[in-house]
Parts: sequence; C-alpha cells; structure tokens
Amino acid sequence: MKIQIDQQLLNREIDTLAGFSDAEAPAVTRVVFSEQDRKARAWLKERFAEAGLAVREDAVGNTFARWEGAKPDLPAVATGSHVDAIPHAGKYDGVVGVLGGLEAIRALERTGFRPKRSIELIVFTSEEPTRFGLGCLGSRLMSGTLAPEAAAALRDDEEQTLDTVRQRAGFKGSLDSVRIAPGSYSAFVELHIEQGPILEEEKIPLGLVTHIAAPASFRITIEGEGGHAGGRLMPGRRDALCAAAEIILAVERGALGTGAIDTVGTVGICQVHPGAVNSIPSRVQISVDVRDTDAARRDKVQAEIEAAIEEIGRRRGVVARVEIINSDPPAESSPEILAALTAACETEGIGYRRMVSRAYHDSSFMSQIAPIAMLFIPCRGGVSHRPDEYSSPEEIGRGVKVLARTLAALAGGAQQV
Ligand code: GLV
Ligand code: MN
Ligand code: MN
Repeated sequence: MKIQIDQQLLNREIDTLAGFSDAEAPAVTRVVFSEQDRKARAWLKERFAEAGLAVREDAVGNTFARWEGAKPDLPAVATGSHVDAIPHAGKYDGVVGVLGGLEAIRALERTGFRPKRSIELIVFTSEEPTRFGLGCLGSRLMSGTLAPEAAAALRDDEEQTLDTVRQRAGFKGSLDSVRIAPGSYSAFVELHIEQGPILEEEKIPLGLVTHIAAPASFRITIEGEGGHAGGRLMPGRRDALCAAAEIILAVERGALGTGAIDTVGTVGICQVHPGAVNSIPSRVQISVDVRDTDAARRDKVQAEIEAAIEEIGRRRGVVARVEIINSDPPAESSPEILAALTAACETEGIGYRRMVSRAYHDSSFMSQIAPIAMLFIPCRGGVSHRPDEYSSPEEIGRGVKVLARTLAALAGGAQQV
C-alpha cells in the first residue's frame, strides 16, 4: 500500500486552525470553551464530515470522528490529541495529532483501504490546565481518573464552574456519561511534537515513546502580613513574597538534588496580593509542577518541597497552605503498538529512536483504559509552549505517514482497489 500525505493541505489546515486565537499571530491562545475554541471545534467538525467521518461529542466536549470499519462491533483503534492552546503558545502542540490524524485517515481512504476495526479520531477537551488548573480533563474523565463530581466543581479564575461553562458551550449531558469502559479501544496512538531537542539534535525524524513521565502539581497559598512599604520597618516583617521566593528556590533545589536529568521542577504562576509597588505582599499564590520518569523519586522531591515549605513558613511567621492538584503515575507504551510503529517506520524507510516523553499527554490517561503509544516528530530547537514553536511540513508529513500505516496495521483490513 502506497500512502501519500497531502502536506500542503495539512499545512494550510494547521494555519487556518491557528487563526482561531485570542492572541495575535504567530502566537496562539485558545482556551477551552472560549469563543475561539468553540469556533475551532465547529471548523474541525466540518473537516471531519468532509472526510466522511461520523462525528459525536460527549458531555465534556470530547469529540470523536469515526471511520466505520467492516466489523463495527470490534473495539476501535483510536488516534488524536487536543486543540486547546496555552496563552501565547504556538500552532503545533496537540494540533499535529488532530489534523495529522485526520490527514492519516484521509490518506488511507485515498488508497482504497477499508479498515476491519473502526478508526476513531479523538479531540480531547482541555489537555491544557490553563482554565481549570488541571490538565487532560477530557481524558481523565474518559478513563475514570477524575470523578465527575470533582470535575464539575472545578472553577476558573472568574469562579465559574466547569459544569456551568461546558453547558454554556453546548455540552449538556451528565458528566457521569463521559467515562468509557476499559477495552472500548484496542489501541490509542497519539502523534505529537517532541517539545524537546533530542530528535533535532540527533537528526532522527521520529521518536517512538516508550514511557511518559509522572506529573504532579500543587498550589501553595502563603498568607503573611501586608502594610506600608515605607512606614513598616524591616525587622519583624512577614512578607509573603519573600517566603514564596524561598519556596521557589526550594523547588529548584529539590529537582536538581536528585542528580537525575529526568527530574524537573517549575514554578510557573506567582500571584501577588495586593500587587502595589509600595505595599508589602500579604498573600501570594504560586503553582508548582514536578515531574519525573520515576514516580517514587518524584514523590520524594514533592515530600522534600513540602518539608521546606513548612520550615520556611515557621521561620518567617507566614502560613503556607498546600493544595495538591494532581499526582499521577507514569505511563508505559504497549509493546504491540511500538512494534507496529517500528514496522511502519521500517516499511517507509524513516529513521526512528525510542524515547521518553517528559511532557504529559492525553495518552497518559488513555493508558489506564487502552494500550497506548506515542509518535514524536522533531520541533525546532526543542521549543514548545511558545509562539516560535515550529515543525516543518516534511517533518509532520513523515509522522503522519507512519501514523497512517500504523493505524492500518492495528485496525486490520483490506485494500478495496
Ligand atoms: C502538557 O502540556 C504538559 O504540560 O506536559
Ligand atoms: Mn501543551
Ligand atoms: Mn500537547
């Protein structure tokens, strides 16, 4: 079977999708259930229908575009990713897995192939934690990792609940119905940009992901004492931001302290109250993100950070409250899907290496209900979550070709013409 990818069409579609954005190009901001997200979803559904796929949506807005197989009762093979984008992101994160998945299906359709198992393209809701503070909402709910009641009560910055916001966006069913039974899919394969530098540095076109690192995040609220920046003398101050600064450095120390390259710790949010140049910060909220390929090592770092928070709070006379947002296990890829990906690379004569994913993905949670694997393509300079994120049409095309061949192998089926 000769698979041909329409790189130009795919590239045009990636550009069009990037136009649904609240930031000026080249930046993309597309927060879940914003007007731009809803427009992007509507545009995508038109593309899916054009490709002859049957579209359905669940109560949290996960969208499924199905190519019915000759044996529709068998568990389907799935691919897909997300299209929400963090503030000032680029245009490839997630999108390559959705539009690339669509082009993989179209490429197979063009060959005259007819799958035995159905093939489903899934667009997951809110992979990014931007709006509700927790990432992978759609795949967590699908896999039963997140309880529907807990999801419904999540709040955005404007104190609107996920339940209200998703219903306003038109997704009205009960969140209980989002969960699917283990075994509903025989395989899930996600195409994604690497979001790291290895493939580019080693000049290897594709990465076959064997493991996904274990992510954890928590929110720390530090209550100190505010006051006049001039009138209040330095001795005896209980400055919440000074305490936060020490905590931030404790996060860095904790991650560096394992000596393992796979441990990472980041404070990406710091909100200071009242936020005036001449006012001592009385309350600070920071977010901490810690990840590792080794979950036990990640937990140890997390415990060290919590001990440091307690010590810093006591010494500085501030109250620091820690709220765990998530603490997830790592995911492992299925040997069978990795074998199918390997065979596809070899048939196409495209070089590959095995690697771990340090970013989390919807695959992390799909792994709890289905065999999964991921396929990475290089991105320039390893840059992601920035407007200058870039993968060339050729790099994307190679990933889509291998994805298509892998989906065909996993679905089984026959050439019709
Ligand atoms: C996903 O976007 C992540 O933060 O790993
Ligand atoms: Mn992302
Ligand atoms: Mn992503």
